[in-house]
Amino acid sequence: MLHRFADPIRTLLAAKSGLSVSEIRLEKPRDESLGDLAFPCFVLAKAKKAAPPAVAAELATALSDELARQGVEATVTATGPYLNFRIERKALAREVFAAVGAAGSRYGGSDEGAGKTIVIDFSSPNIAKPMHVGHIRSTIIGAALQRLHQALGYRTVGINHIGDWGAQFGGLVVAIRRWKDEVQLEQDPVRGLLELYQRSKQAVETDEAFRAEAIAAYQELESGKEGEVRRLWRWVTEISLRGFDATYRRLGIHHDLVRGESFYEPFLEPTIERVTQSGVTEVSQGALVVMLGEVDKGLKETPCLLRQTNGTTLYATRDLAGMFHRWGEFQFERCLYVVGAEQKLHFRQLKAVLKRMQLEWEPRVEHVDFGLLLGPGRVKLASRKGEVLVLDELIDEVVEEALRVIEAKNPDLPNKQQVAEAVGIGAIVFNDLKRERIRDVIFDKNDILSFEGDTGPYLQYTHARLGAIERKVAERGEGGGAPDWTVLEHSGPILMRLARFPDAVRSAAAHCEPSELSTFLIALARDVSAWLTDNRVLGEAPSTTAARLALVRNARVVLGNGMELLGLAHPSEM
Ligand code: ARG
Repeated sequence: MLHRFADPIRTLLAAKSGLSVSEIRLEKPRDESLGDLAFPCFVLAKAKKAAPPAVAAELATALSDELARQGVEATVTATGPYLNFRIERKALAREVFAAVGAAGSRYGGSDEGAGKTIVIDFSSPNIAKPMHVGHIRSTIIGAALQRLHQALGYRTVGINHIGDWGAQFGGLVVAIRRWKDEVQLEQDPVRGLLELYQRSKQAVETDEAFRAEAIAAYQELESGKEGEVRRLWRWVTEISLRGFDATYRRLGIHHDLVRGESFYEPFLEPTIERVTQSGVTEVSQGALVVMLGEVDKGLKETPCLLRQTNGTTLYATRDLAGMFHRWGEFQFERCLYVVGAEQKLHFRQLKAVLKRMQLEWEPRVEHVDFGLLLGPGRVKLASRKGEVLVLDELIDEVVEEALRVIEAKNPDLPNKQQVAEAVGIGAIVFNDLKRERIRDVIFDKNDILSFEGDTGPYLQYTHARLGAIERKVAERGEGGGAPDWTVLEHSGPILMRLARFPDAVRSAAAHCEPSELSTFLIALARDVSAWLTDNRVLGEAPSTTAARLALVRNARVVLGNGMELLGLAHPSEM
């Protein structure tokens, strides 16, 4: 929407400078009090063999009258080597409010991704193990990336690449045979399975007979035979998936496809065949490998293993099969793997295999990595009993605490439990998205629930506050008059921020960095809160109330849209 002002400015600049319009990029001024759009004169000065400030000053003079003559609603000043353009507040307000008003809940989005597909592999927990804190980040970041791309018009395909295959299932099947009556599989299937899984892992290490039985069971599973082993494997998978689904429902998360590693079983042999056909495989100590040093020097010592000496395939083989399959099905613009940084080597190897095969779509495969989720003092997060922390328990804990906070602040709130759920989950989600994803996240219940810090609840609170003002104005029947936009003369920075929201969305998606949007929203909430202390909406002249109300309403819409994209609910009261 800023192009309404930027385009004529660029045309004029081109005419006066001799540059072509496409060479003229208007930036965000470093200091917003200087202006709204800036043009750095360095390149031009170099071409003219003059000092940048002199060039800027000369252009400012030449442009000043021209802007007015052409009816461009902006003024220009030279500050050092920069030309700064300031858009007239009245015109800016008119354009911003019209754009937000017209698009409503879709403001911030576009259709630039139309016809393109983004595949997002996210969450991807492992069967028989509860979703742990390591999967939280993938779930939250992945879902945000999916919504961001959706808003930009892309077709998105969210895939849950469940860990449901591998030798560990041989051990698990044997553990079920031996010990299923010793654990509470009916009452607490998730914990019951975890216990069996942990016992099986230990038994495989220490008990020769157990190990032999486990290997035989896995071989039977891999053979595809429809027998007891496959039945048990399927049963375990179903129990786990049901547990994951409950958590996803709570978080409002949906995958378009649940395709575990086992889904790619029929494609493993064709995959190995294809890689071999391309001539990049070697046999090393009985195993089938792809050497990677020639495309990635750092991987000289770490070839990609496709088939082990004993004939079984690996996690990497299944991921490679998945990549081929996804490319075949979707011809994706990007295929994002939202997986922790500890799997960096794995994805680097897979990309190197694609490179060695000279597949032109290799750059479209991206490992969207992220740091750890740690407790205060950077310790590993554990449950209250000191066991593996289950995501559901973590959510419960934060929601309970949110309820306590709400009880203290607003005891008369009608639907406290529901609001506590929204606030608790909002706190967890925002905490996960508020810094660059590669940085570790510290999880401190009290910090993330603070209504004043850079938190989800702070955004929710600000959003609710704006909604409350709107309701009050309506209740009192104020703000009916024609808005007097001159009262927004000093509200330029907020208007500019609202205008730039679509850029923040686009950039966050392009960089797979939801934190760009979180930072944007926190800044907007801070601006608006400060603005509210100086700008009373209620009890003013109707034309003043009307203008300020418009700002409140539009800021609330933008804040709400941004929160939706990140995955934060916005209760109307809290
Ligand atoms: N299940 C794996 C784990 O928990 C994550 C899978 C990520 N996705 C993938 N395509 N490899 O570590």
